[in-house]
Amino acid sequence: MDRKIVVVDNPLIKSYLTILRNTRTQPLFFREIMEKIGFYIGFEIAKFMNWRSVEVTTPLGRAKGLTISREVIAVGILGASLPLLYGFVKSMPWAGIGLIAARRIEDHSRGYLDVEIYYTRLPRDLRKKVVVLLDPMLATGLTLKKSVELISRLGASDIIVGSVIASREGLERLSKERKVKAIIVCSVDEKLDKNYFIVPGLGDAGDRALGGTLSHY
Ligand code: URA
Repeated sequence: MDRKIVVVDNPLIKSYLTILRNTRTQPLFFREIMEKIGFYIGFEIAKFMNWRSVEVTTPLGRAKGLTISREVIAVGILGASLPLLYGFVKSMPWAGIGLIAARRIEDHSRGYLDVEIYYTRLPRDLRKKVVVLLDPMLATGLTLKKSVELISRLGASDIIVGSVIASREGLERLSKERKVKAIIVCSVDEKLDKNYFIVPGLGDAGDRALGGTLSHY
C-alpha cells in the first residue's frame, strides 16, 4: 500500500463501521456514528499537518505546547459527508467549512461514467491553507479527483483526504494526485459493483445519513 494511504486499525472504529454497514441502522444513529468517525479521523489527519511550538501561561507557570501552523478548511462533498464533516470540525474547531456538490453522469450501455461539480462554497484563495477533503465513500475516486483538481486551481497544494470506506480502484486513482499528501480511510472493501457502488460497503451513504425516501416522514 502507498505510504500516503492510512487504513485506520482501531477496534472502536471497526465497531462503529459495523454499525454503519448494518442495514438496520436508522439515519439518526447512522449520523451520530458517522460524526464520531469524523471526530476520530481528525486525530489521524492531525498527524499530517504542521504544528508550531508555543508557550502559554497556566495558573501556575509556563507550559510548552503546540498550535496549528496554517489555516484549515474542511471541505465536504454534499450531502453524504455532512455528519463526517460535522464530526471532523469538532476535532478542529478552528477549521473553516467548504462545500462541494457533484453528480454522476452515467451511460451504462457505453460503460461511461463522469462526474460534474455543480455547486461550490469555497474560499477564493486556498494558497496558504490546508484543505481537508471529506467524503465517506471513496468508490471510483472520480468525485474526489475532480474536487482535488478544482481546489488545486484555487491554489491549494496541501490536501488531505478523509474517507470511511474505499475501493482499491478509488484509492489508486486518488493517490496519483500529487497535491494529496495523505488519504485516511477506515476500510478498503472488496470491489465495486456495476453501479460503481462499494461492495460490501454500506449502501448509499447519502440516503443512509439523510433518509432516503422522504415519504417516511
Ligand atoms: N457512494 C455511496 O454512497 N456508496 C457507494 O458505495 C459508492 C458511492
